[in-house]
Amino acid sequence: MKILVNGGLGFIGSHTVVELVNSGYDPIIVDDLSNSDIRILDQLTKIIGFKPTFHQLDLCDEQAVKNFADSQKDIVGIIHFAAFKAVGESVNLPLKYYRNNFFSLVNVLNAFEGRGMNLVFSSSCTVYGQPEQLPVTEAAPVQTAQSPYGNTKQVAEEILNDVIASGSDYKMISLRYFNPVGAHESALIGEQPIGVPQNLVPFITQTAIGKREKLMVWGGDYNTPDGSCIRDYIHVVDLGRAHVAALKLMEKEDFTGIDFFNIGTGKGSSVLEVIKAFEEATGLKLNYEIAPRRDGDVEQVWGDATKSTEKLNWKAELDLSTMMSSAWKWENYIAQNPL
Ligand code: WQD
Repeated sequence: MKILVNGGLGFIGSHTVVELVNSGYDPIIVDDLSNSDIRILDQLTKIIGFKPTFHQLDLCDEQAVKNFADSQKDIVGIIHFAAFKAVGESVNLPLKYYRNNFFSLVNVLNAFEGRGMNLVFSSSCTVYGQPEQLPVTEAAPVQTAQSPYGNTKQVAEEILNDVIASGSDYKMISLRYFNPVGAHESALIGEQPIGVPQNLVPFITQTAIGKREKLMVWGGDYNTPDGSCIRDYIHVVDLGRAHVAALKLMEKEDFTGIDFFNIGTGKGSSVLEVIKAFEEATGLKLNYEIAPRRDGDVEQVWGDATKSTEKLNWKAELDLSTMMSSAWKWENYIAQNPL
């Protein structure tokens, strides 16, 4: 069964392509290469054993998306990753984020309307802001977004709700990711931050390999057991598998409309605990220091993944140590094989 993977050469998209193939699907990758590397196609070929179908396409170009959809009659599902996702950048360039993240989604929804399509949408725990209750469940109130990026995820979910409410024949699942980290066990694909990494784990691995001098821990005075922020880190391979589970749930006759699922481990880890897990997994000593808090950081957030386990029939299986060792293996791979 052919599945359209929008943004399929990105970090999460590429790992999901592998899991789709492992489950017998035929991924059709679309990517505009604005935030990904065409060489990931060769890397994927090494993992799955054949070159996946790829189309370079600007999903913000309405006519191009319509023409593409008309040429693809046998696609039965869509996984929509295509979006910019740097929180900080979105504050400085809101229109870049609103244009790209909304135009691409609306063009795709429009072009494939009326074909009984199953759509998986890449959402985020950022829709919860700083939840009043932890662990946060899907029933938690969506809070005012802390950034234009977070707002694009909230409004995108409203767009999906409104399309379903209009009587559309789409079936939809929105997956609210927590913090995706790690890499495929082959170390042939992984996270490729452009420039200085904003996220914790790539900054850790780049510090360990000597690309960065020191990791700054943004805040050691939070109201948490060790003073550093808590997040729900999830292995990107587990995350890829959640997308396959979402497609399978929508293929069931009794699934209609739209549903939302937290994709996390249900366990919170502090920044200092992640550093310790990295040191234990690699045997290295990481150079870091406690620094002032970073604006916009929520103090602690981790997910309640019960609904995903019970209804999506999915559960995270890979632990923090595996996340750290796979991220480190990937960092070493790209040090020897610059992509
Ligand atoms: C994690 C913790 C930092 C870097 C990200 C994405 C967001 C969403 C969720 C997709 C925080 C601390 C970080 C560093 C540090 N993903 N940190 N030093 O902010 O939870 O959000 O995942 O939707 O788009 O941005 O992840 O990795 O940036 O930070 O101390 O050099 O690590 O303060 O507490 P975050 P992160």
